[in-house]
Amino acid sequence: MSLVKDEQSSGLELKEGLENSAFEGDSQPEQSSRRGQEQAVSMEDCPAGEESYTQIRPYAGMPKEVLLLYSSKARYRLPREILFWLTVVCTLVLVAVTITVIVLSPPCLSWWQTSPVYQVYPRSFKDSDADGVGDLRGIKEKLSHFQYLNIKALWISPFYKSPMKDFGYDVEDFRAVDPLFGTMEDFDDLLASMHSMGIKLIMDYIPNHTSDKHVWFQLSRNRTDYYSDFYIWVNCTEGHPPNNWVSVFGNSTWTYDPERGQCYFHQFLKEQPDLNFRNPNVIGEMTDIIHFWLKKGVDGFRMDAVKHMLEATHLRNEPQVNPMQAPETVTKEFDLYHDYTYTQVGLHDILRGWRVVLDEYSREPGRYRFMVTESYDYKEIEKTMMYYGTPFIKEADIPFNFYLLDLPDGLSGVRAKELVELWMSNMPRGKWPNWVVGNHDKPRMSSRAGQEYVRAINMLLLTLPGTPTTYYGEEIGMENVNVSVTQDPFGKFDPNSSRDPSRTPMQWNGNLNAGFSDSQNGTWLDISPNYKTINVEVQQSDTFSVLELYRTLSLLREKDIVLLRGWLCYVWEDTNVFAFLRELDGLDRAFLVLLNFGEDIETDLSTITELPDQLNVRISTLPDTPSSFQKSRIRTSKGQGLLLEYFTSQRFHTGHSSQCYVSEKACYLSALDILYKC
Ligand code: GLC
Ligand code: MG
Repeated sequence: MSLVKDEQSSGLELKEGLENSAFEGDSQPEQSSRRGQEQAVSMEDCPAGEESYTQIRPYAGMPKEVLLLYSSKARYRLPREILFWLTVVCTLVLVAVTITVIVLSPPCLSWWQTSPVYQVYPRSFKDSDADGVGDLRGIKEKLSHFQYLNIKALWISPFYKSPMKDFGYDVEDFRAVDPLFGTMEDFDDLLASMHSMGIKLIMDYIPNHTSDKHVWFQLSRNRTDYYSDFYIWVNCTEGHPPNNWVSVFGNSTWTYDPERGQCYFHQFLKEQPDLNFRNPNVIGEMTDIIHFWLKKGVDGFRMDAVKHMLEATHLRNEPQVNPMQAPETVTKEFDLYHDYTYTQVGLHDILRGWRVVLDEYSREPGRYRFMVTESYDYKEIEKTMMYYGTPFIKEADIPFNFYLLDLPDGLSGVRAKELVELWMSNMPRGKWPNWVVGNHDKPRMSSRAGQEYVRAINMLLLTLPGTPTTYYGEEIGMENVNVSVTQDPFGKFDPNSSRDPSRTPMQWNGNLNAGFSDSQNGTWLDISPNYKTINVEVQQSDTFSVLELYRTLSLLREKDIVLLRGWLCYVWEDTNVFAFLRELDGLDRAFLVLLNFGEDIETDLSTITELPDQLNVRISTLPDTPSSFQKSRIRTSKGQGLLLEYFTSQRFHTGHSSQCYVSEKACYLSALDILYKC
């Protein structure tokens, strides 16, 4: 194709053939283009330009002018414009649909929501070096236990360097591992193994106090400049504390230090001096420690004893619970109202600052850093809820819900409902609930409620909405042990308060030391006498064991959208039974959970019209259960739990909003198999 000037039409005309001598060779560009011009001219001169046409190399490019000429023709322009606008419209529609889907989708649940949190008390979990005390290598050896139970989040109680006056809650060095538990390499190795198995690690972080052996305290007591105010020092003389404040473990919170010639403050043991959080350098140093562990890759923190972090500076006496009590006999925590030592103004600002740090490390996909706070607020549940933050300022992901620990006091269906309702009705809107039925500070649930109720309690824990926390051994129903030698400092002050009974070694099998340790010289706390019958190995081969039930529920909970995201509605409570529904809008499948916390009984739920007549047994905690029940006659034995599945198009929550709660509103569109916010 060649372009020639048509004098008559005084326009451009297209001729077949290609002519762009610029392609003739890169070495002589100028010459070539000149030759091109010559050729064009020669074609004009010679009407039968066929010759030169055949000599021109085909496909040598299309000159701009030709392109313009073609492209301006209607048959090319129109489709082009149509295509252009179609692309624009499609892009806009795509963007709009994407935004709508994002806005309407409930947020994906994070790892700390989809898995139970399992608390490992490292002294008692697994001993790898036969010294009678558990350690980090021991935990690594037993990671398969968590895979077996489908647990993907571990909280490990402190393993920092410590003189162990409070078994690790008295930290001498926040950046070191205590040799009793192993080395920093062991830690790195454990964390890497956990991560490779998809298991997250939550560290215990203890901001309120350090050990008195901590270098900061040593430098503070000798008034070394920067450290002088790292702790709370007050003028006093020996034996004359500045006020009536008492520690959690009993006796005065003040101890005279002859070296400094002043008293220092401690809300726990005298070997656990409180840090002074009114000193910004203390906040700075403690924040650096958070960075240290986050950089190592830990996935979150359980923040210890947070309500104790600040105390009033005026040092007024706290009011006595019993004003008639002789002041000199006021030695126990609950002898006083802790108006000036617990939950002081400013506490949440510190925690929110740490939250910001966690968020900085949460930006990588899949690396969300989690925060749970520990605060026992007893009757003042609104104080606990404060740790959730506000709708505008984030704080903890969850404050531990310790209220279910009181279930055994007057155990009944009514009691269970009351405690669930206590949390759900006080929790700020849109927050995520959680449930704790045991820890290293409290007696074992199985001993308090009775072994026959352990399965029902675990079923409650794993079928309620929110994150369940399981203390090691609860998955097999371990019981309190009367230990021969008291180790716990709290137990030494008051034998009734000893925490040793719930800290005894994990029962893995029926071998020496219950498979916990190869030590020939005993273990740090006695092994339970029941270890031959209550242990992991025995329970693995029994379908109806506490362990197998836990495993089944944990697997189901993770994959069942109704259990994870559905509404919770109470439908029944009496002396024996607590029953609730889990349902999700748009989904015709729902669950009725019926738990017997009393005696053998038949429950009639025929008044609940939203329930179909037939309820299928999905899981029963006991053998010999029929495969389905009529809703008017649901028989359960003492301590039995039933997870009943049913199909219906009716929603219960729509007509009974006062009995129902939802953590994050989600609806299910079965046609497209997606969740959306509703
Ligand atoms: C927390 C711990 C407890 C410890 C105390 C002091 O309450 O759970 O075990 O003794 O803090 O650190
Ligand atoms: Mg050991």
